[in-house]
Amino acid sequence: MSSKTISDRVEALLAEMTIEEKAGQLTQYFYFGGLPDPEPGTEIHVVPSKMRAYVEAQAKIGGVGSVLFVRDAAELNRLQKLTVEGHRLGIPLLVGYDVIHGFKTIFPMPLAVAASFEPAIAERGQSIAAKEARSIGIHWTFAPMVDIARDPRWGRIIEGAGEDPYLGAAMAAAQVRGFQGSDLAAGENVLAGPKHFAAYGASLGGRDYDEVNVSDSELHNVYLPPFEAAVKAGAENFMTAYMGVNGIPATANKYLITDVLRNEWGFKGFLVSDANAVFNLITHKFAKDKAAASAAALNAGLDMEMAMIESGYAGIPEAVANNEVSIEIIDDAVRRVLTAKAKLGLLDNPYVDVERSQKVLNDPAHRIAARESAEKTFVLLKNEKNALPLDAANLKSIAVIGPFGDNKRDLLGPWSFAFDVNETISILDGIKSRVGAGVKVEYAQGVAHERRIHPSIFDGDPNNHVNDPADFNEEVEFAKAVALAKISDVVVMVLGEQQAQIGEQAARSTFELPGRQLELLKAVAATGTKVVLLMQSGRPLDLNWASENIPAIMNIWYPGTSGGAAIANTLFGDISPAGRLPITWVRSVGQVPMIYSRHVSHEPHNSDNRYWNEPGSPLYIFGHGLSYTNFAYSDLSLDKKALSKTDSLNVDVVVTNTGNRDSDEVVQLYIHQRYGTAIRPIREMKGFKRLHIKAGESANVSFVLTPRELRYWNAAVKGWVNDSTHFDIWVGGSSAAELHGEFEVK
Ligand code: NOJ
Repeated sequence: MSSKTISDRVEALLAEMTIEEKAGQLTQYFYFGGLPDPEPGTEIHVVPSKMRAYVEAQAKIGGVGSVLFVRDAAELNRLQKLTVEGHRLGIPLLVGYDVIHGFKTIFPMPLAVAASFEPAIAERGQSIAAKEARSIGIHWTFAPMVDIARDPRWGRIIEGAGEDPYLGAAMAAAQVRGFQGSDLAAGENVLAGPKHFAAYGASLGGRDYDEVNVSDSELHNVYLPPFEAAVKAGAENFMTAYMGVNGIPATANKYLITDVLRNEWGFKGFLVSDANAVFNLITHKFAKDKAAASAAALNAGLDMEMAMIESGYAGIPEAVANNEVSIEIIDDAVRRVLTAKAKLGLLDNPYVDVERSQKVLNDPAHRIAARESAEKTFVLLKNEKNALPLDAANLKSIAVIGPFGDNKRDLLGPWSFAFDVNETISILDGIKSRVGAGVKVEYAQGVAHERRIHPSIFDGDPNNHVNDPADFNEEVEFAKAVALAKISDVVVMVLGEQQAQIGEQAARSTFELPGRQLELLKAVAATGTKVVLLMQSGRPLDLNWASENIPAIMNIWYPGTSGGAAIANTLFGDISPAGRLPITWVRSVGQVPMIYSRHVSHEPHNSDNRYWNEPGSPLYIFGHGLSYTNFAYSDLSLDKKALSKTDSLNVDVVVTNTGNRDSDEVVQLYIHQRYGTAIRPIREMKGFKRLHIKAGESANVSFVLTPRELRYWNAAVKGWVNDSTHFDIWVGGSSAAELHGEFEVK
């Protein structure tokens, strides 16, 4: 459809609409398709069946423009028909969903994908997720989550790309490209909605939804760059965050929405609030009533409200009548929403082919892609005396031990809904099929599956739980696990957090392994059998004891549908792990927040003596990750010694695989500005490349540093600057890269 036709059709519809219908187009309701009602007497207050009846009634009077949380193609066709045929304007629904890391095929969590340091992996995964979701009639995802997160107490750290804005920007752009593709009307892609604008990751104490107070410098240098990258990549939607930023609610924040996002970055799409966030302007004690809340959000530049039954935008007609918001602002918002519908081709055909969707959802190529993604994400934290890889030919027996060793649901991680748990490959199954019948593989759970009752509505979904049988006896199971370890050649121990212990509403104040897991690890290690520890974790759980006593530790994050196969391929050396930490792995909660790109002030107070009770360094640094070989860095060359502020610098380095196994390596480039008109971090990543290098071979790797990589936002001048200064530059395999060079900017 030409843009002329789109705008003609949008204007024609707009001209017909009453103010109530306009408010309706700007309102998105949860529909909770497929979710059962909570058991009577539970803490959950939302009743999905009531919500569904309400939304259907609204659809018939033009009171709803969009719904979220329906995952069935036939159900979506029914809802579209009811909406289009039930109302005189016949405007179809825009259907949103949290497609965060896969739809039916579940890919590794976003933080894991960031650990791949390979944006193409993120792009491919999200394009498959988009294809699956669109096939059933979903048009829009509330993703990517691009919040920089530097406090691992915050459970949502798992949904983003970690602590670094440069990596975060690369992953944000790649995901937007993957979701949106090049033609939204072709039925293979979805609108991307980067979230949560902005700085949600800085919530006080890592507590979900808590207030955010960030300096201008942090906001522009750290929290905003991934959002800007998402706009540049063409994101059609943005979601505003729940909390206030420096005292102004993000959802009514004119500076962020209008000045920065629309005016400075040129964003043309539409914005949605986080769930209930317009109504929450009243909860924030910011707006006095729904009319004022609607006006505050719309005047700041927000378009749509995501709502439960209590919609803040129900106050729109009153706000217009009181002149709190102009009809022009409402019309612009409605235009943007209708334009999105038109771009997606919905005004011509909002229905999907149910049979075709089944084929798309069950495409075996998607499971292979999920395995390949997972293989890129594992981070080998420690590997003493080449404890890994395991040699299947020299093993007679393997013990898989721990609550996540034979567990499918938790392997998928949070924000997984439309999966089929039966097609998930557990770690036990993956190992069994990799080693074949010649090796005895036995499993012992050892400790109970924790049951965290998650406060969200999704806790009502029985698919979300792994329950132990009623007669589960932890003492007996613990003893069985230790006995199995004793008689086995090697133990693969799988510990960590279950999926409901991380993600939204999953903050923690301590990082110990939940339940009796550490006790089990110690008891199993005491048998003397070699232990390989796999950590199913999206935050730096306490590895102090393990890092001293267990020879091999690999973080597997939440690897998704094909996770068990990817893990087996890595354990047995078909694949060399090469993922790197996108976060600093602290020793203790007290070290939080700790990041690699810190500022230094008083020199003697360096990283080694910052605490008297424990080392001032983290346990594992940003960018750390081992492989089954070693790499040497040499021949760092810069094409200029001095450059002007508008010049670019070409950087070349030689990377050699000095071991005897082929492997990927993540080459990382860091800079440091020695002096200038503001204090700059001791190191900042400004380039990375993941490449495959065969044993004994070398590769030339090139980077270009443009003025953009060398600029920063300066609080004194309230804008971007490039200083005249000297820079240090390092290239290597982690944030401790040693190969050094220097250059001057005149
Ligand atoms: C609240 C979360 O903060 C947001 O990320 C999500 O997209 C919406 N709920 C919808 O599920």
